[in-house]
Amino acid sequence: MSLQEPPVGTTPAEPVVAAVVVLAAGQGTRMRSRTPKVLHALGGRSMLGHVLAAAAPLAAARTAVVVGSGREQVTAHLAEAAPSALAVVQEEQNGSGHAAAVALDALPDVAGPVLIVNGDAPLLRPETLAGLVAAHRAAGDALTVLTAEVAEPTGLGRIVRDTGGAVQRIVEEKDADDAQRAITEVNAGVYVGDAGTVREALTRVGSANQQGEQYLTDVLGLLVADGRRVGGHRADDPADTLGCNDQRELADRRRTLNDRVLDRLMRDGVVVVDPRTTWVDVTVEVAPEVVLHPGTQLLGATTVAAGAVVGPDTTLTDTEVGERASVVRAHCQLAVVGDDVSVGPFAYLRPGTRLARGSKVGTFVETKNAQLGEGSKVPHLSYVGDATIGAGTNIGAATVFVNYDGVAKHHTTIGSHARTGADNMFVAPVQVGDGAYTAAGSVITEDVPAGAMAVARGRQRNVAGWVALRRPGTRAAEAAAEAAAETGGGGQAGSRATGSAPDDER
Ligand code: UD1
Ligand code: CA
Repeated sequence: MSLQEPPVGTTPAEPVVAAVVVLAAGQGTRMRSRTPKVLHALGGRSMLGHVLAAAAPLAAARTAVVVGSGREQVTAHLAEAAPSALAVVQEEQNGSGHAAAVALDALPDVAGPVLIVNGDAPLLRPETLAGLVAAHRAAGDALTVLTAEVAEPTGLGRIVRDTGGAVQRIVEEKDADDAQRAITEVNAGVYVGDAGTVREALTRVGSANQQGEQYLTDVLGLLVADGRRVGGHRADDPADTLGCNDQRELADRRRTLNDRVLDRLMRDGVVVVDPRTTWVDVTVEVAPEVVLHPGTQLLGATTVAAGAVVGPDTTLTDTEVGERASVVRAHCQLAVVGDDVSVGPFAYLRPGTRLARGSKVGTFVETKNAQLGEGSKVPHLSYVGDATIGAGTNIGAATVFVNYDGVAKHHTTIGSHARTGADNMFVAPVQVGDGAYTAAGSVITEDVPAGAMAVARGRQRNVAGWVALRRPGTRAAEAAAEAAAETGGGGQAGSRATGSAPDDER
């Protein structure tokens, strides 16, 4: 789903603003990373993706993202995540005011309210932006800025209000005097104003400040000097307004975002045993009465249906888990785990794994591009790659689906209600029919017809008395002699009936 489009099943909303402008050209030097700042990910989306998602319900006809540093990467990301957004290049990073001017120049036909937002505010929520726009409309001001009351305002622009409470200007930390630095109401870097008004004011913004940059924040003072009213809308939750400038802040924002996701899930009836070690992306869906054990990560497009139990120590990426399924100590990617399926402990499900209702992938089992039919089981120590297995089939312990001949991958098909022995190799391409059996230790290179028993291994030969003859004087020879004396035999181990009834749960 594109971030720009409303979720399936909802009717497109009336546009709340004419355009959204995201400022994302800055270098983000403090991240100390080659990745452009706004592409750093948290909760399953880039920072930029979170900002665009928060703005999406405003249903703007036009969205422009100002790119500069790392523009190729940011533009490529946009093409994928928000294809309808316009990337506007700011050649030199002359400040946020310059960036906003470049964006509005690229949207010459846009009139009416425009939302301008910093690209490094990943905790912004739709309701916060909607609240800002609603306050702006209600007051009829020329421009309204989102603000926050914070305990630690260091580094942020301060909101200077007059005695009547009207916003007069924003002063950047570096340009502030002591009295201004003591102000705890800060600029969140989100503004809504009439496109024409902002466009005109931006032409008058200079760069006579400590950083020698064109500050977007200077627009407020200019408008007030013109005799226009400027509003300041305090965010309900100051966390929404937090920027993200270095790795510590990124980790902090990630934790906050995760707390919010888990909070929502728990309100909906999901059992989160240990919120501190459970990580769920914003894109994941979890049904009520799911239990998430410690060390669980649910990532990407993962969905977990009602009554399923996941974890401990499980990572699911783009994986679908059915009702009442159990997934324990597993690593799964692009897998479909059906209703009542059991996975793990210690299982690795790779892309293309599809486990039908009531099936089982047990301990130390790896699967890839493998379909397991209803009620079928691969309980122990096996690799199942490029395989189709019917319903009600049991795969013996320590089985390998030999899918790769060193050049190409080949497919194995096993029918329904088959019983394959332990330690089998299925050398693909090969087929095993419905109801067929294979003997333990078989290397199956030829098709097995339905109902047949395939035996494909060397025949056992016992050389009687070999130890006494070839290893005289050893502990083995002594033990053999004692055994012979006890049984009164001639030093030959009694033959034991081998092969027990097939048992699904060996
Ligand atoms: C800015 C605000 C500050 C506010 C803070 C909130 C200004 C002058 N100051 O400060 O009042 O409290 O955000 O987090 O705006 N950008 C460009 N091109 C440029 C420069 C910046 O696109 O030439 C973008 C950046 O990528 C960023 C945004 O504009 O997304 C803000 O720039 P940044 O340098 O992060 O400003 P702050 O110092 O954080
Ligand atoms: Ca910033």
